Amino acid sequence: MHYRTLGKSGIPVSIVSYGGGGPSQFGKAAGLTASQRRDLIARALELGINLFDTAANYGDSEPQLGQALKGVPRDSYLVATKWSWKTGGDDFLHPDALLASVEQSLKRLNTDVIDIMQIHGILPGTYHDITDRYAPTLLKLKEEGKARLIGFSQMMTEDPKLTVPVAALKEHPDLWDSIMFKYGILNQWAAKEAFPLAQKHGVAILNMAPVRFTLTRQHELDELLETWRSEGEIDVDHPKIRKGFDWLITEDAPTVISAGYKFAADHPAVSTVISGTSNIAHLEDNVAAFENPSLPEEHTALLKELLGDSAAPR
Ligand SMILES: NC(=O)c1ccc[n+]([C@@H]2O[C@H](COP(=O)([O-])OP(=O)(O)OC[C@H]3O[C@@H](n4cnc5c(N)ncnc54)[C@H](OP(=O)(O)O)[C@@H]3O)[C@@H](O)[C@H]2O)c1
Repeated sequence: MHYRTLGKSGIPVSIVSYGGGGPSQFGKAAGLTASQRRDLIARALELGINLFDTAANYGDSEPQLGQALKGVPRDSYLVATKWSWKTGGDDFLHPDALLASVEQSLKRLNTDVIDIMQIHGILPGTYHDITDRYAPTLLKLKEEGKARLIGFSQMMTEDPKLTVPVAALKEHPDLWDSIMFKYGILNQWAAKEAFPLAQKHGVAILNMAPVRFTLTRQHELDELLETWRSEGEIDVDHPKIRKGFDWLITEDAPTVISAGYKFAADHPAVSTVISGTSNIAHLEDNVAAFENPSLPEEHTALLKELLGDSAAPR
């Protein structure tokens, strides 16, 4: 396992981490039993993964993670969780709701400190309200030692060109320790402004969901290419796009998904790539993909040339 650092904190983090949301929820969505789900998390640890990402509103993901990590030395893993500012509606919740959620997360996770406490899914148009409202509470949590680092995740469906992360990195680079958004073969927009700013300010980038859904579901890829064709920004009729991405398959990248994960770690601004799976074999394959976290140079160069302007909303 390769390790990078969580930006200016210097905290080592495995290049691939394991997320309990998305379509897998540590195996819940696939109907795995609690014991099978614990096995997945235990295998992730064995393979060298040291960061687990969850959220207060990812079903039972937090308690499941807390159970699975019982007895594991606390200094051998990092846990990131999130709180949604709009749980139950579109109004901004009172900051006390954030405090209450953190107390609940600490209990569910069986810990006295959350390594990365994040605001979940900041939408365009809400960044300033959210920062004004909740940053003082996040800083208080840090001061009290209940959160080591503070950050937020964005909403790729509403903000594929990352206006919120870029605003945050320009306006409050010292406030945020980490930002979670998506960078991948079909989401290269981050390389334009967000990554250079994050590197300049030492803000950790947690790269979320880099292969779902477009690289894992052919019909979603077809729909995306149709949308891009109508928008005219990406040359979707280039044979290396129109005929799919099988040309990325090599001995070292035996599937398009493994190529997708490798590309997701390609940029040095990425601290860790958060993957999700319900399947131990997939987990093992995914970790193997990061043993050599890069594609052949000519493949990377061509992906950047053809899809450098890509910003898929899923
Ligand atoms: N706004 C936010 O805060 C936000 C949004 C999105 C994600 N996230 C975080 O990022 C984490 C990762 O998201 P994600 O799970 O969507 O990430 P992902 O790793 O890009 O995609 C997971 C999907 O790919 C499939 N997959 C994974 N490995 C595979 C393999 N080797 N072969 C075939 N299929 C494979 C999984 O199915 P199988 O289960 O069958 O393997 C699952 O459907 C989430 O759990 C969450 O922690 C946060």
